[in-house]
Amino acid sequence: VREFLILIIIVVLTSITYYFIEPFAHSEMHKSFPSKHFKYADLPAMQYKGDPVKGKALVMGAGACTGCHSIEVAGIKPSMTPLASAQAYGVEAPDLSDAGAVYDAKFLAAYIADPAKAMLVADKYGPNHPFPMPKFYGAGGNIHQEIADMVAYLQSIAVPKEKLTPKLAFETACGRCHAVHYENWTQIGQTPKFKHRVDKLEFDSKVLQYQTLLKKHLGSLPPDLSMYIRSRGEHFISTFVEDPQNYLKGTAMPRTGVNAHAAHQVVAYLENAGDPKKAERESLGKYVMIYFIIFVLAAYLWKREVWKELH
Ligand code: HEC
Ligand code: HEC
Repeated sequence: VREFLILIIIVVLTSITYYFIEPFAHSEMHKSFPSKHFKYADLPAMQYKGDPVKGKALVMGAGACTGCHSIEVAGIKPSMTPLASAQAYGVEAPDLSDAGAVYDAKFLAAYIADPAKAMLVADKYGPNHPFPMPKFYGAGGNIHQEIADMVAYLQSIAVPKEKLTPKLAFETACGRCHAVHYENWTQIGQTPKFKHRVDKLEFDSKVLQYQTLLKKHLGSLPPDLSMYIRSRGEHFISTFVEDPQNYLKGTAMPRTGVNAHAAHQVVAYLENAGDPKKAERESLGKYVMIYFIIFVLAAYLWKREVWKELH
């Protein structure tokens, strides 16, 4: 009975440390905000139902989107390399093939109307340093209807939800700004396998040039995200992406406007990059616990057996 008491005391003390003291220390050391579930409550709800056919005409025509963006699935090839795009705009204008699957519809609409404002970085730009993507001022009709049409078009060409892989979500939403060297991802794309050293040098030099332009445009180089999932954890990444200004007032990291599913996929990509053995380790932990329980029980029974004779 005394042994049981000791065991219970140990369990209680350990639990207090684990469930109360550790999370408290953690929350004191790292700021943490609750998730808003990617609702973007500050953005106006969509009032119009979009027509993808009209949207296509706008995206390709009066909206001028394809002047800067490629749309590979619609046969619009990039007119510039990522580096040339960064030379023109400071950052690559991303391919729009899967924008409709990655970004929240409300966000996309707000973004087309006023990109810097939707990204919560408007105060970083002005007449002397305009945001690289212009606002859409309308094509002569009802501007809200026209924007809804373009959003509907982007949604109609994007991959279905179940085909939005972690890699695709990350590359679409984050890849033009962040490298992940554990996955051989650079801001200008996946690092190819090189046959010749000179090809590698040429590629590395393009990456460096892109990064220099990006740093000049944003004010700081976005960090390599290989280890962030380990150092900060998934809650931080997810809520930081949802609202970067909440954590870092005045940061150049934009609110990217990803929807909840895409955010989940982005976190999965980073998890896989930074901690590929996590699932394995967690399932191992379960077996270790079972082993300990059996061991404690066996030890207890054995002790009873030994002491029985002496009583
Ligand atoms: C003058 C060039 C230019 C034009 C025209 C343009 N864009 Fe962009 N767009 C950009 C650049 C550059 C970025 C990257 C901005 C950044 O990362 O800060 C961008 C980013 C985007 C994004 C990513 C948003 C996010 O949250 O990451 C979407 C979606 C987009 N543009 C859609 C459009 C649509 C739709 C149109 C047409 C109505 C359009 N763009 C017209 C240059 C342009
Ligand atoms: C237009 C470029 C741009 C895009 C797109 C972008 N980021 Fe960032 N990100 C930045 C910059 C710049 C910083 C550095 C912020 C600072 O130090 O103020 C940053 C910082 C971060 C950080 C580090 C925060 C910290 O506490 O140090 C994380 C994590 C991050 N980004 C995740 C993401 C994810 C995930 C995505 C895609 C959903 C993404 N970013 C898209 C520019 C970008």
